[in-house]
Amino acid sequence: MKIAVLGTGYVGLSTGVCLSQIGHQVTCLDINEQKINQLRNGISPIYEPGLEELLTANMEAGRLRFTTSQTEALTQTEIIIVAVGTPQGEDGAADLSFLVQAAKDISIFINQDTIIVIKSTVPVGTNDFIKKLIEDHCCFKVKMVSNPEFLRQGSAIEDTMKADRIIIGSENEEAARKIHEMYRPLHVPVIVTSTKSAEMIKYASNAFLATKISYINEIANLCEVVGADVQDVARGMGKDKRIGEAFLNAGIGYGGSCFPKDVKALLHTAGAYGVKFPLLKETIAINDYQRELLVLKALKRFGGLKGKKIAMLGLAFKPETDDMREAPSIPLSAALTKYGAEVVAYDPVASENARKIIGDSIKYAGSIAEAVDEADAVLIVTEWNEIKSIDVAEMLTKMKEPIIFDGRNCFPEETIRACRSVEYYPIGKPAIII
Ligand code: UDX
Repeated sequence: MKIAVLGTGYVGLSTGVCLSQIGHQVTCLDINEQKINQLRNGISPIYEPGLEELLTANMEAGRLRFTTSQTEALTQTEIIIVAVGTPQGEDGAADLSFLVQAAKDISIFINQDTIIVIKSTVPVGTNDFIKKLIEDHCCFKVKMVSNPEFLRQGSAIEDTMKADRIIIGSENEEAARKIHEMYRPLHVPVIVTSTKSAEMIKYASNAFLATKISYINEIANLCEVVGADVQDVARGMGKDKRIGEAFLNAGIGYGGSCFPKDVKALLHTAGAYGVKFPLLKETIAINDYQRELLVLKALKRFGGLKGKKIAMLGLAFKPETDDMREAPSIPLSAALTKYGAEVVAYDPVASENARKIIGDSIKYAGSIAEAVDEADAVLIVTEWNEIKSIDVAEMLTKMKEPIIFDGRNCFPEETIRACRSVEYYPIGKPAIII
């Protein structure tokens, strides 16, 4: 099939690459010329394991193209997949301006009836609105398909090629069948719904997962005061198939480009229809508290942080990505510097992006050893493998004081107990002080 993908962010690029991998002719369109030139040279603008290899292979096979030309991408194309960003607007609602622009471009450049697949995360009713917008501005008919995306950064290719399910929401049976056909080589279970249900599935799924995280984080906070171990509790809970093991890792809150904005957007939609949804308000409040928890723990331990050297290990919102959007390291850095601490951070790949957001209020080290040198305490912020495999005993000898606040429960108890002198403060478990 001949497919155009609008937008080369995480979702657009992964989708384009994977569809070409299963044999389709894919043209990816983006307005950013620099990005398109980079992609044409086989360089991925995002850090995503496995993406560059597939990208190059499919370009060489002649199935994958990148362009800034709307004519090239949108004319004579049977399926147009829209994967532009829908960032959070000022009032918490999803900002649809990129999507509206994409719809306008589509109305100008299509020259036949076309199937429009909306992959961007959009509030309920958006597919109808986009259909009207396009058809009001051109003489062709469009068949809308809502096809939300569930890929995670860091495992985008795997999540696309081996998805748990594909949601196809459409009022048009022929379009739904065609998109089902497009994905057939993936052999993934397909659920066909109305467009509105498909739009809702995406928000309901993300908000549920975010709520699951806030729930386990609140259980962790309770575990700390009653002396239980949240990792044991999560293991015990997760074995119940009705609960499930995934997304029960307590930590310093959820971040990234989706959960924070999608929870707020769903809350906004609920409010617009007069539904209060207090559960989501609590999910957000717990997350906000959790994101600064390590600073509260450090303040409790030290009394004050003025002049303390704090090593922050990890900056990205999660491992295997250089994405800094809504990363807990941002509020943590702000709070630590506000209390007068000197922060030296290390991240295997995200330092450059972090500097653009956090700026020079903190220092950026080139290695873990450099960050922890003479530090009063270490804060573990992202569970990179490099950080999880630190020789903890060795690291402690380089520090001024052997104090670790571990926001991701990276180290087994035996590792900590083997240290000669240590103060270890994990999440949702008793501290270990030797
Ligand atoms: C998420 C959804 O998982 C994906 O389906 C959707 O398409 C986009 O949003 P992503 O943002 O890439 O994906 O990351 P994910 O792995 O889901 O993690 C989100 C945040 O939750 C991270 O900050 C992570 O650290 C945190 N998290 C996740 C926890 O704190 N505990 C967990 O158990 C799982």
